[in-house]
Amino acid sequence: MKVMIVTSSPNLEGLTAACGNMAKAGAEAVGAEAVIVNLNRLKIGHCKACGNGWGPCRSKHECQVQDDFQSVHASMADMDAFIIITPVYWGDMSESAKAFSDRMRRCEALKEKSFLEGKPVIAVAAAGGTGNGVISTLTNLERLLMQVRANKFDLIGITQKNREYKLDTIHEATRAMVCFLL
Ligand SMILES: Cc1cc2nc3c(=O)[nH]c(=O)nc-3n(C[C@H](O)[C@H](O)[C@H](O)COP(=O)(O)O)c2cc1C
Repeated sequence: MKVMIVTSSPNLEGLTAACGNMAKAGAEAVGAEAVIVNLNRLKIGHCKACGNGWGPCRSKHECQVQDDFQSVHASMADMDAFIIITPVYWGDMSESAKAFSDRMRRCEALKEKSFLEGKPVIAVAAAGGTGNGVISTLTNLERLLMQVRANKFDLIGITQKNREYKLDTIHEATRAMVCFLL
């Protein structure tokens, strides 16, 4: 059982990283292999909206912009479950999460069988003290999951105020997601 944990913050000691570590611990507690992919450590540029709006993402389900997107995208095929964690920036996902998910959605949404088709996914929005924008961030992540036909397992909002018990929630949610697949 393989679980991909996607994080998308530049802050290696921050809340997003803490969520990723808890998800990893939760997955490993029930015997899954967990890999953390920090999008901010990779070179993943923006979608170029090739041609008249569609490039080979539509016809071949591949992105022609050559960077680290290719390897992360390809490795998704081998995964059984996913956790997507983003910091909340301006009430939305981070720039690195947006760049990756825009391109991934284009490749997967029109494919006969998406790399995420029916696979369980937990989406996490990690916010600051106000927690403003957790819901809008999760709404956008939910739409993404629907568009790639993933099996939405949970949507979790966490802030600096509730981090103590919500980190436990992420651990338990990841455990439960892996057990759901066993
Ligand atoms: C550009 C920017 C925009 C932000 N916008 C919001 C926001 O809309 N709502 C919020 O609660 N926190 C906001 N924050 C705070 C971050 O969500 C918060 O610091 C979070 O913990 C960042 O994750 P990290 O600890 O992994 O870096 C923003 C931070 C930055 C840098």
